[in-house]
Amino acid sequence: MSVLVTGLQPTAGIHLGNYLGAVRSWPLLQQRAESFFFLADLHALTVPQDPKQLRDNTLDCVAMLLGCGVDPERAHIFVQSQLRGHTELAWFLGCRTSLGQLERMTQFKDKAAKQKDDFVGAGLLYYPVLMAADILLYGANLVPVGEDQRQHLELTRDLAVRFNGSYPGTFVVPEAFYPENCARVMSLQNPTVKMSKSDPNRAGVLFLSDSDGTIRKKIRSAVTDSGRELRADPTKPGITNLLNILSGLTGKPIAELERHYGGSSYGDFKGAVAESAVAVLGPIREKYFELKGKSDFLRDVLAEGRNAAQARADGTLAIVRDRIGLL
Ligand code: AMP
Ligand code: TRP
Repeated sequence: MSVLVTGLQPTAGIHLGNYLGAVRSWPLLQQRAESFFFLADLHALTVPQDPKQLRDNTLDCVAMLLGCGVDPERAHIFVQSQLRGHTELAWFLGCRTSLGQLERMTQFKDKAAKQKDDFVGAGLLYYPVLMAADILLYGANLVPVGEDQRQHLELTRDLAVRFNGSYPGTFVVPEAFYPENCARVMSLQNPTVKMSKSDPNRAGVLFLSDSDGTIRKKIRSAVTDSGRELRADPTKPGITNLLNILSGLTGKPIAELERHYGGSSYGDFKGAVAESAVAVLGPIREKYFELKGKSDFLRDVLAEGRNAAQARADGTLAIVRDRIGLL
């Protein structure tokens, strides 16, 4: 059976980009592969976090993942920081990672440039090494992620190959895979930047916990382009993003949507996108609110996930420690 690993940072709730680009496929994948889904709270620490909020958000994200159809009976759901192996393996890998390769990571350069008061924590640079450890620790051969993680996945593969060069057969070299569309959902307010939890302009980010009214409002006020033609085109990033979102929500190809909405006004088209979003996200939100208060249950889910993950992680680490010569 294939082994699949993927993670999500438990900050500020799950948004439509996370859903269409990643989480949506998890319920299907959990049936086909042994799946490890984790909350990447250590990755979240690379930028300042409020402790109470981080803790609350972590449990909240579990409720939302279950709302999206992730099934604790099938998949292992756990919190990254509760397994010491992630940071331990990250150290071993970091000692074999070139500083230059880390400095060239687009996400590092972007995030470092955005840091206020000029403090750029070394964790931001080290982030992709930790991510490689997350994956290699479980012997994953499949890693479903959004397009923004492409470089990190390439580094992971490089590290696995390099390590295997010195210590043959230690790691499985993982394959990344990206959703066919919606691998990059853009902000509703600025369709040239990706939808992101850290965007200060909340109107551009559709959270899965948003009410029907808020969903309609955010989509109806999405920035579109001047002109009236309804088609996907690099010169029309706003309409292209909405077509992409509608395609993700309905499963219909973009070409079919272009044909269907070709004669509609932008306003009517946005209305259709909003109603699709309400229809898909409504049941998820309901389930989420039902589970949100059940913190004992959510903690039990995490404890079970952690036990399963621990067994796998311990096995990998024992092999690595032995091969590199630790006593
Ligand atoms: P994060 O919230 O950054 O931890 O991301 C969790 C997952 O969602 C990863 O697989 C990301 O690649 C994916 N993701 C994040 N933002 C977007 C976006 N705007 N469009 C598509 N996928 C995304
Ligand atoms: N860095 C990923 C993101 O921000 C989250 C993540 C951390 C991850 N570790 C991972 C994804 C391992 C896949 C595999 O989206």
